[in-house]
Amino acid sequence: MLHGDVGLELGARVAAALRTALRVEIAPADAVIRPSTRPGVDYQCNVAMSLAKTVGRPPREVAEAIVAHLDSDDLLEPPEIAGPGFVNLVLRREWLQDTAIALTGDERVGAPLADRPRRVALDYSSPNVAKEMHVGHLRSSIIGDALNRLLTFAGHEVIPHNHLGDWGTPFGMLIEHLLDVEGDAGSGISDLNEFYQRAREKFDTDEGFADRARRRVVLLQGGDEPTLALWRALVEESERHFEHVYQLLGVQLTAKDNYGESFYNPYLDDTVAELEAKGLTTLSDGAVCVFPPGFTNREGEPLPLIVRKRDGGYGYAATDLATVRYWVGERGATDLLYVVGNPQAQHFQMIFAVARWAGWLTDAQHAEHIGFGHVLGEGGRHIRTRAGGTIKLVDLLDEAVERAATVVAERSDLDGAEQARVARSVGIGAVKYADLSSDRDKDYVFSWPKMLAMDGNTAVYLQYANARILSIVRKAGTLPPPGTPVILAEDAERALVLVLLRWPAAVRATTETYHPHTLCGYLYDLATAWSTFYERCHILSPETPAEVRASRLVLARLTSRTLTLGLSLLGIDAPDRV
Ligand code: ARG
Repeated sequence: MLHGDVGLELGARVAAALRTALRVEIAPADAVIRPSTRPGVDYQCNVAMSLAKTVGRPPREVAEAIVAHLDSDDLLEPPEIAGPGFVNLVLRREWLQDTAIALTGDERVGAPLADRPRRVALDYSSPNVAKEMHVGHLRSSIIGDALNRLLTFAGHEVIPHNHLGDWGTPFGMLIEHLLDVEGDAGSGISDLNEFYQRAREKFDTDEGFADRARRRVVLLQGGDEPTLALWRALVEESERHFEHVYQLLGVQLTAKDNYGESFYNPYLDDTVAELEAKGLTTLSDGAVCVFPPGFTNREGEPLPLIVRKRDGGYGYAATDLATVRYWVGERGATDLLYVVGNPQAQHFQMIFAVARWAGWLTDAQHAEHIGFGHVLGEGGRHIRTRAGGTIKLVDLLDEAVERAATVVAERSDLDGAEQARVARSVGIGAVKYADLSSDRDKDYVFSWPKMLAMDGNTAVYLQYANARILSIVRKAGTLPPPGTPVILAEDAERALVLVLLRWPAAVRATTETYHPHTLCGYLYDLATAWSTFYERCHILSPETPAEVRASRLVLARLTSRTLTLGLSLLGIDAPDRV
């Protein structure tokens, strides 16, 4: 028998026991089953403590009732009660061995597909045109891409979309500036930040330029064809830059995922008209506003979401209301996820509140802002270059690969071309993993030595463990055939299998909470269990009996497959050799 999730299976057994013994109904997930840290105990069931009050009996009695009615001889050694009412669970060795064999034949290493697949509209990366991507967009790209892969793996239909900032009043000055510099050889928009800053400078200091820029905005909004052509040129130039960054990063977004702000232009009139027709709008200072209940500023005054500005133009908020209406109404999305930094938390809370008010979001949809903290430099401030300027993403990634090359060269005997490829995987992996392995809700400190450390919870530690396993497998020559018996005699062997069995739960927890660091923590536990196993259990040594060697090779392969799969779901390479 192969079960997706041992914790859930144990929960189901405990729930059944409670039903017969005490006539209480609990969900398997609420049986409070936890991997145990006590030696010799695999899992602990703590539900007796939380249930005691509800059923009006001492926890110990509840625990006794569970143990008396637990139908689990196939799975467990006879359970024991400890302390006030903990139930200690030990999996039967035969069951563990059989399960390990079954896992080797399963591509998904036991992780089940969702029984109710959702259609998830996933907004991530979302940089702004004619501006360089900044670290916030880096985080959004990395986290969003991991979620894209994870949710797809879990069996959901994911529609990634890149909400490019490609519309609005700045385009007047950007287009005029483009016209000014177009003749100059070599200038153009090779440097996006500089291009933007020059345009801004002229707009602030040169009245004539500012006038031209304002007239240009009117032309753009009016759909003037030559103006639109210039706008398109700007957008395409930026898109090429973004695509380059995505390729460097191994982020899956492509041109077909671009749904910039301009995409929603045709929907804005209707969106606001519907709000007006439903009587949800208030005219305030000439602007059309919605005041969703429950939102106030520091003075306690109601907070508006401005859906149409005084000049009749639409802004960021109107566009985001249109995204909700579009993805739910036209694309049938059941889940709307927005991977955007924490400073926009209130914006999204207000968007969701208004969308619910308007009936665009109902109980059938789940909308969530997947926020994240800042990236800090070593001193705890925002990260900057040595010269104090903002860091260019491309430079940062180049530096990562360069530093990784040094780490790789010190350790490996690979030839030049292969070393360069591995350095890329290690360097980019280090940057991505450093981001993904820290709780996204919080800020994290960007530190080269920390993210490239050979031990600790880093990508290179996992990559190295995996490559080590693969080298052992290569040395062994032939692989044990499918169905090779797994023998769990040593503690370290058993411990490794127990961690392997936690894979489905780790994937589930990660996809349910949208917190990639949960999966990172799991992979780190797995690599650690592997290294203990590797220290204590010889695989290729001539003293190891043939059937033990075969069994250990099976476990080694399974560990490598799980590490590789886990890293791939985070968007990180697992090279064969490091
Ligand atoms: N372009 C925006 C920014 O750089 C992020 C857009 C996020 N997505 C959205 N639907 N608002 O801040």
